[in-house]
Amino acid sequence: MQRHRGEIRFILNDRQVTLDDVRADAMLLDHLRLVRGLTGTKEGCAEGDCGACTVLVGRPRDGTVDYEPVNACIRFLASVDGCHVVTVEHLGAGGTLRPVQRAMVDHNASQCGFCTPGFVMALQALWMRTPTPTVTQAETALQGNLCRCTGYAPILRAALDASAHGNPADDPLVTLGPELAPRLAELRDGRRVVCGEGRNAVILPCSGEDLAEVLAETPGATLIAGATDVGLWVTKELRDVGPAVFIGHLEDLAAVEVTSRDVTLGAVASYSGAEAALTGAFPHLTDYWTRIGGWQVRNMGTIGGNIANGSPIGDTPPPLIAMGAEITLRSARGRRVLALEDFFLGYGRQDRAPDEFLETIRIPRPEAGRIDAAYKISKRRDEDISALAAGLSVLVRDGIIIRARIAFGGMAATPARARAVEAALEGQPWTEASLVAAGAALTDDFTPISDWRASAEYRMLAARNLLRRFYLERQAPGGGRTVRLDGVRETG
Ligand SMILES: Cc1cc2nc3c(=O)[nH]c(=O)nc-3n(C[C@H](O)[C@H](O)[C@H](O)COP(=O)(O)OP(=O)(O)OC[C@H]3O[C@@H](n4cnc5c(N)ncnc54)[C@H](O)[C@@H]3O)c2cc1C
Ligand code: FES
Ligand code: FES
Repeated sequence: MQRHRGEIRFILNDRQVTLDDVRADAMLLDHLRLVRGLTGTKEGCAEGDCGACTVLVGRPRDGTVDYEPVNACIRFLASVDGCHVVTVEHLGAGGTLRPVQRAMVDHNASQCGFCTPGFVMALQALWMRTPTPTVTQAETALQGNLCRCTGYAPILRAALDASAHGNPADDPLVTLGPELAPRLAELRDGRRVVCGEGRNAVILPCSGEDLAEVLAETPGATLIAGATDVGLWVTKELRDVGPAVFIGHLEDLAAVEVTSRDVTLGAVASYSGAEAALTGAFPHLTDYWTRIGGWQVRNMGTIGGNIANGSPIGDTPPPLIAMGAEITLRSARGRRVLALEDFFLGYGRQDRAPDEFLETIRIPRPEAGRIDAAYKISKRRDEDISALAAGLSVLVRDGIIIRARIAFGGMAATPARARAVEAALEGQPWTEASLVAAGAALTDDFTPISDWRASAEYRMLAARNLLRRFYLERQAPGGGRTVRLDGVRETG
């Protein structure tokens, strides 16, 4: 057997596809529609926002196949190597409606029909996972799907009613899982994949160690994990991303380890993949997590990608910095560990050499007496980028703030700690007055900008109010979540 494999292999609906000429910028949606003629999957926005392009991507897990809804418009074709890709045509195969389709018909949940295939795919994934969802679970599953005609009420009713039409245990995607899983594992045969060369090279390393070698050989190649940022470089900016090194499939880089001391996330753990472990260990992240993207984006996007992109408005750095997270960068030269805040050097500049990749993120568990919160302020509740994000952690002993770690996104050119605020809090009593007084120090820490998401004044006011909210929420019965302050509209 040759050391490298020169082709991408996956199963599309019920047939195997083998491609030896995959371009670095080839998108799954274009392949489905233009090459395979599977036009049921629609293109609405081409940027991961509308869900019209939703397909299921299945990967072998625990002896069966685990299916997740993803956005085909920003999913690179090469990244489905070793996967089962399911389009809406497959659900309708045989001329019989699947339960979610039947429910959509019964509830008149389609009008022009453009969004319908995307909704059907998201609903199919929901029904397979959670056959009898609550309204909140159904709404969360549909965060990433937009409909401009029917309205969401009938679609929601269809989501709640799907199980009346059938049991997921009888669905072919479930019953065939144990048979398909070994076939998929065989397709992804553990070898490095290399298609094309030079700027057109598409490389899929076979492990973290192999990735270090690949980057030593091809420093500066575009690393692509979940592609929820890089996909848009192609579809919206028409950027050349070759040579491209795909890493989203690397299971050793997606591992999530929970101990009594810390939680360590592999950098390519997706938001969905890390959710249970993270919110279990750090419950204050529970609401915050479902404010990141929509379900499809959370299935694709990785925490490592959110950090590595260096965005000043990425949602994970503020709470992770506040909790004292550190990251490990790896290359063929070795590993080094950094406090997360030290990774961000300036706008668009991160402390990462061209042959390095982000390997893990370690988050220490809190000591007794620590109080944590994470807030996101955006114009829409769902599927929106933050105007402002905040992570707040204070250690309180005998009513006194012993230590404070406060971090904001959207207030500066990078996610950053509010060190003057921290200094103003430390040694003070844990009272509303202390939080309000410390808010005055925000002007020493930050000079925010005005842009289309928020004005500088709004950001400053909202940041001050979040400090106060942090305290007030802890006093409200049940840790109340509906405090309104100084003209800032609550968003979550
Ligand atoms: C519709 C939509 C909604 C979104 N909503 C949100 C939101 O609410 N909050 C938010 O913060 N973001 C949001 N995003 C942005 C995006 O989803 C996140 O930034 C995501 O975490 C990026 O991860 P990824 O794996 O997709 O990164 P990719 O697109 O694969 O990569 C992003 C960058 O990181 C680099 N990179 C990736 N992994 C590594 C690694 N291990 N080591 C070194 N470099 C690496 C890549 O080379 C690239 O420069 C949204 C995006 C879309 C399309
Ligand atoms: S076309 Fe809108 S999310 Fe893909
Ligand atoms: S039915 Fe027309 S966009 Fe949803």
